[in-house]
Amino acid sequence: MPISAIVTGHSRGLGAAIAENLVGRGIATLGLSRHAHADLGRRYPTLLQEVMLDLSDPSALGAWLAGPTLANWGLGRDQIVLINNAGMVEPIGTLPMQDAMAVAKAVALNVAAPLMLSSALVAATDAKQDRRILHVSSGAARNAYAGWSVYCATKAALDHHARAVVLDDTAGVRICSLAPGVIDTAMQAAIRATSLEAFPMRARFDALKAHGELASPQDCAERLIGYALSASFGQQPVADLRDVAT
Ligand SMILES: NC(=O)c1ccc[n+]([C@@H]2O[C@H](COP(=O)([O-])OP(=O)(O)OC[C@H]3O[C@@H](n4cnc5c(N)ncnc54)[C@H](OP(=O)(O)O)[C@@H]3O)[C@@H](O)[C@H]2O)c1
Repeated sequence: MPISAIVTGHSRGLGAAIAENLVGRGIATLGLSRHAHADLGRRYPTLLQEVMLDLSDPSALGAWLAGPTLANWGLGRDQIVLINNAGMVEPIGTLPMQDAMAVAKAVALNVAAPLMLSSALVAATDAKQDRRILHVSSGAARNAYAGWSVYCATKAALDHHARAVVLDDTAGVRICSLAPGVIDTAMQAAIRATSLEAFPMRARFDALKAHGELASPQDCAERLIGYALSASFGQQPVADLRDVAT
């Protein structure tokens, strides 16, 4: 069954591991990030296509969506999987510590881009195709943390988007907003580099790293893709990767 995938934030971290896993399975993958993956394009020149795009710029994303690349990526595919992975945890801190434009950038990257890509993909494909949308959410969508008001709000928006899309019951569309667990990436390093004043819970994340309790991006990607391609994908609009069958 021909499958293709679209992964945002494929250049590093969890998204890089997702892209590596997808092409390793022989799945044609379109990666959208500001930078290229370090070497995946060279290793899989026919399977990986990379587009350098600042997804925190809705005008740039809108212009790209008006072009042919996304629509062409789904042509002739029985199944197409969109993994909205790109995200940022900043700005971290209380309201007076947050720069207004940093708030706008986080909302654009974490919310506007996944929602724009979701609607554009479904509009560009047809009801006979198995169209799957996976938002990479966070435990922060479901629990409020001091210092993470922007991150919590943006990830909660993805969860609620998925719940409402399920109610639309659009033919051929499945969606899940999935918390992946705590993963050893640059985002975790940035969290550990935050001041306690901005993020009072930092010690918990320091301890996860110190005790080797962060998941590897590769293990997380293997489970996430297993779930995205499984028959049970989308049975729950909001889920945790640690709870789903993969
Ligand atoms: N790490 C964790 O413990 C954890 C836990 C729960 C949820 N998550 C979620 O998992 C996802 C991946 O996180 P991660 O830890 O892998 O983060 P990361 O290491 O910081 O990587 C972020 C990725 O997003 C891309 N990105 C960032 N800003 C972008 C922009 N303006 N335009 C396009 N792409 C952009 C980056 O690529 P470029 O720099 O090349 O643009 C990079 O590929 C995020 O949605 C995050 O919220 C992570």
